[in-house]
Amino acid sequence: MKRSKSNKSSESPPPPQQRVLVLHGPNLNLLGVHGQGSRGLTTLADVHAAMEARGRADSVIVESFQSNHEGQLIDRVQAAAVEGVAFIIVNPAAYTHTSLALRDALVAVAIPFVEVHLENIHAREPIRHVSHFSDRATGVITGLGAYGYLAALEFGLSYLREG
Ligand code: DQA
Repeated sequence: MKRSKSNKSSESPPPPQQRVLVLHGPNLNLLGVHGQGSRGLTTLADVHAAMEARGRADSVIVESFQSNHEGQLIDRVQAAAVEGVAFIIVNPAAYTHTSLALRDALVAVAIPFVEVHLENIHAREPIRHVSHFSDRATGVITGLGAYGYLAALEFGLSYLREG
């Protein structure tokens, strides 16, 4: 019996696109609403659009997720591991100073992450000087406003390129 012709092409399929997840904690949906934006990036939607466009230029998918609920942020981190997200940028907002559960999720999935804060948390009240994330982060950017997200993404893209 003759074998049917294989319709496999000689070209191998393109590698799957790499993915970066950007996580925003509680109240960051208000970014811009109270004049917290900087360098022309006034709302979270503006920040997302700039980051997605920058990722696209490197053929990297940049997804953003904001929640005011700790459990939803934890679920999103756990899903990231299943989806093969390669890098996370996270502003845990007030959970920075309180959430062992979100810290544990990031440690558990072992996806490298950069911690971002709009304001310099070390120039604010002492309670904000403590972060449950910084010791496990690849790096921390604090006080550069919305630009900090783009700086973190630039680092993430070079990390994905070069490892
Ligand atoms: C913040 C700093 C936190 O202390 C604060 O609770 C926030 C925002 C920042 O981006 O500067 O919600 O994470």
